[in-house]
Amino acid sequence: MRVLVTGGAGYIGLHASLELLGAGHEVVILDNLVNSKREALGRLETLAGQSVSFYEGDVRDRALLDRVFTDHKVDAVMHFAGLKAVGESTQRPLEYYDVNVNGSWTLVSAMVHHQVHCIVFSSSATVYGNPHEVPIREDFPLSATNPYGRTKLVVEEMLRDVAAAYPELSVVLLRYFNPGGAHKSGLIGEDPNGIPNNLIPFIAQVAVGKRDQLAVFGDDYDTPDGTGVRDYIHVLDLAEGHVVALERLHHERGVHVYNLGTGRGYSVLQVLKAFEAVVGRPLKYRVVDRRPGDIGECWADPAKATESLGWSAKRGIGEMVEDVWRWQSQNPDGFSGLSD
Ligand code: NAD
Ligand code: WQD
Repeated sequence: MRVLVTGGAGYIGLHASLELLGAGHEVVILDNLVNSKREALGRLETLAGQSVSFYEGDVRDRALLDRVFTDHKVDAVMHFAGLKAVGESTQRPLEYYDVNVNGSWTLVSAMVHHQVHCIVFSSSATVYGNPHEVPIREDFPLSATNPYGRTKLVVEEMLRDVAAAYPELSVVLLRYFNPGGAHKSGLIGEDPNGIPNNLIPFIAQVAVGKRDQLAVFGDDYDTPDGTGVRDYIHVLDLAEGHVVALERLHHERGVHVYNLGTGRGYSVLQVLKAFEAVVGRPLKYRVVDRRPGDIGECWADPAKATESLGWSAKRGIGEMVEDVWRWQSQNPDGFSGLSD
């Protein structure tokens, strides 16, 4: 298949693109590089051993989308492009609605016009809000606790409406839990701008000496050690999940929803310990207040993806942390950024 990957220069899009190429698909990337670097695409091409068509531009740019869909006979779209920082979304909600909602609307409008019938959308466990129990199944009630989460909910709803009106469409909503890890080569990985919001890149920067210590956001949750528990899924498992979902579902009309998680939860202190074991020394941390909006525990019931797609996460927390450490220690400043 020929797949348009929006946001393909970003963390998950890069790994998914590599997996697509490895499975024999053709990839066209559209990314405005607002949260990624051109250097990442060079590394993707090195790893894939082939070149990739790249359009530098905005997913909200309809004329550009028309050009992409005219230049390439695209069979399906993987839509990763978007803004993802929860805290920032509360400060800049209009920007989040514009990029995430208007961007998805523009993309889907262009897809309908150009008769591209399959979209795989990056949704998030954030659409479950504060779940009443764990593990979380796809049929749990949906809600949002911040503007970022609401943009994901709105796009899910929009895609359901569009699928109802255009029955030839296949819409795949993949709800990721907490992605982590990096490619085994150490050539591509997560390269956050500024201070990382997420736990794994933050600990990686403490380990490499870029940050002094980890602030643990609360140790008074109702969890075994009091710190927050999450379902950390290796980005390579996530990438494989995308390709399996695409291959299985691109001709299956309607809306298909899957959790992509491991089904296991780890606490903040367990993740820290896993890093210490790989790095071979203790890492500094201190406990601070809870982060507003955080929940105590969140992990997936991934049974639906296993039963109907034959997919399950294969990699554990130790492997994830090893891969993050290889990436972080080989690239302490992430992608060079020289070409941007
Ligand atoms: P990322 O920021 O690394 O990648 C997103 C990419 O989209 C970046 O390369 C960025 O430059 C690009 N982009 C942003 N706005 C754009 C625009 N207007 N036009 C074109 N390109 C644009 O993020 P990621 O972690 O790879 O996340 C990918 C997707 O998965 C996002 O939609 C995110 O919301 C979703 N998601 C991420 C996580 C996570 O924790 N990483 C969890 C659940 C869902
Ligand atoms: C994990 C745990 C924190 C940083 C977010 C989004 C979610 C999804 C994934 C996109 C929590 C604790 C963290 C730190 C800490 N993204 N923590 N110190 O909040 O589960 O999910 O990313 O869709 O929508 O909300 O991930 O990595 O920020 O936090 O103690 O410096 O680590 O309290 O328990 P989260 P996270």
